[in-house]
Amino acid sequence: MDKTGFAVVTGAGSGIGRACALRLAEDGRPLVLLDSDGAAAERTAKELPVAAAAFAVDVTDEEAVADAVRQAVDRFGPPKVLVNAAGIIIRKKLLESSVDEWRRVLDVNLTGYFILLKQVIPAMAAGGGGSIVQIASIAGHTGYGFSSYTAAKGGVLALTKQLAAELAADGIRINSVSPGVVHSGLNRDTLGNENIRAATVANTPLGRIGEPDDIARVVAFLAGPGADYVTGTDLVADGGMISTIHWGSAGGELHSFHAQER
Ligand SMILES: NC(=O)c1ccc[n+]([C@@H]2O[C@H](COP(=O)([O-])OP(=O)(O)OC[C@H]3O[C@@H](n4cnc5c(N)ncnc54)[C@H](O)[C@@H]3O)[C@@H](O)[C@H]2O)c1
Repeated sequence: MDKTGFAVVTGAGSGIGRACALRLAEDGRPLVLLDSDGAAAERTAKELPVAAAAFAVDVTDEEAVADAVRQAVDRFGPPKVLVNAAGIIIRKKLLESSVDEWRRVLDVNLTGYFILLKQVIPAMAAGGGGSIVQIASIAGHTGYGFSSYTAAKGGVLALTKQLAAELAADGIRINSVSPGVVHSGLNRDTLGNENIRAATVANTPLGRIGEPDDIARVVAFLAGPGADYVTGTDLVADGGMISTIHWGSAGGELHSFHAQER
């Protein structure tokens, strides 16, 4: 495998971003970690077995992102992998949300991705290409989340498809991963509620809540040579959550009906 250049991961201080950094480090490339929580990004950097640089950067701050990318290119050469993972959720229904709350969620979860793309793609193209993986969500497929979050994630899915054709000539692939429910900082509060936790497990055919590394392994696949012919697609990693209608306790009865010939 080509080990030149570096991989950049946003939201690398926690959860899925941190797990992606740990997985991508197995490729031997230096890691560049961006997170608004600089101390958390530093902690992840210390865990890595490769050279790493951590930046305390809010992904909505284009100047700060541009500066971090410039410093990283000076130190490590061209970016070969970008993982857009920094994200937030505000759990409010549409009519409960202020315009500022709506804007903040769209700003971080969609415009933040745009800013990273804008700052990384020119250097990636100049370096001969690479692979971009964007963390979307099943919320972008099904409306599972809350309005601002769902709208932002739907935007990530559409943006990813749009860019596949735009970036192919530069040797850049771009895909997204849609996690289901994963243990992370984002939903520590909701999964701390026993009813919500039990309902989540009951609604997941594989019978467990996801771990950040479940997502990171899929990201590493899309970022790596195994996915050389894959661009513009989304890979749902949700334990089967959105693949089926959930019949609850009637499920067993229903399936035994299906077992009978009609
Ligand atoms: N956990 C889930 O169930 C789940 C499901 C689907 C999608 N996702 C997505 O996965 C991604 C990672 O989230 P997570 O679940 O690991 O949550 P997390 O809270 O554990 O990690 C998110 C990280 O992003 C950082 N961050 C937040 N706002 C930022 C900003 N403006 N600039 C830079 N960094 C910022 C946080 O400091 C944190 O370290 C997000 O895009 C989220 O929407 C998560």
